[in-house]
Amino acid sequence: MTLTERLDYYRKLTEAALEKALSSPNERYYPSIFKAVRYSAMSGGKRLRPALIMEFCRMCGGTPEQAAPFAAALEMVHTYSLIHDDLPCMDDDDLRRGKPTNHKVFGEATAVLAGDALLNRAFETILDPQNTKGLPAETVLRAAERLAKASGMDGMIGGQILDMESEGRQISQETLMLLQRLKTGCLIQVAAVMGCIVAGRSDPETLGAAERYADHLGLAFQIEDDLLDIEGDITKFGKPIGSDVENSKVTFPSLLGAARCHELVRELTDHAIAALQSFPDHAFLDDLENYLVTRDY
Ligand code: IPE
Ligand code: IPE
Ligand code: MG
Ligand code: MG
Ligand code: MG
Repeated sequence: MTLTERLDYYRKLTEAALEKALSSPNERYYPSIFKAVRYSAMSGGKRLRPALIMEFCRMCGGTPEQAAPFAAALEMVHTYSLIHDDLPCMDDDDLRRGKPTNHKVFGEATAVLAGDALLNRAFETILDPQNTKGLPAETVLRAAERLAKASGMDGMIGGQILDMESEGRQISQETLMLLQRLKTGCLIQVAAVMGCIVAGRSDPETLGAAERYADHLGLAFQIEDDLLDIEGDITKFGKPIGSDVENSKVTFPSLLGAARCHELVRELTDHAIAALQSFPDHAFLDDLENYLVTRDY
């Protein structure tokens, strides 16, 4: 399978799992929350985190299909983080994945609830034994614990508060690294880690190698996101350009300049590829890394 074919396959598996997870017999009584949740969760996106879970699961001897409920769950957490990130009280953005943001369409109150609903549904999905038949309970528990932590105060939420509180201030490169690792890195890292866990590989060596790989990837990914916020093309990026400057965000480009950031993305990508060496059959992830470095969306 080529890179694009495999990415498409992983996308299809993820979207089927999302469709299933987001349906409910209660929908006819209060359809608006389901509409709002589907609007954001089924609106495209690169589906990078699901691809990482599925690929790590495959490399570690499991199947992408086994990883599907976990991929859907992580994509739900990620989507919730984006809905809340765009709210007027946070980044106050009007465009996401090429469409008006959730609160622009459904109003702020529904957007807050849509985010909350996705976070809950993520855990409902992986903790429903019907969805994880054939996996030991211990495996599901370990994966759920890692996902909860990566999403919480010692993960994405910690990064979001640091990001907000750094607006308009001078912060050190060290604090910025922590901020980026938490707000973006943690959800990328947990994708790689959950993939290994679902395949039954929870030994510290395997999880450590997955974490090292995803740490480099996560940093490179957020630096690139910051660069695209300056240099991107809105029709491809699907998000407003200049949002970080408008919000006085401290970003890698604001601290180090764009030229150094492009170099850094390349260096981090090389480190990420080097960290994959202990995994068998890692060619897809090598290609994915190189593809992500040149992304324009
Ligand atoms: C956007 O993530 C937020 C960041 C962490 C930079 P993605 O760039 O993965 O967003 P989608 O899912 O493709 O829309
Ligand atoms: C947000 O970072 C990361 C999370 C939503 C946790 P950004 O604020 O840079 O993400 P975009 O650029 O709005 O996607
Ligand atoms: Mg933000
Ligand atoms: Mg934002
Ligand atoms: Mg951004």
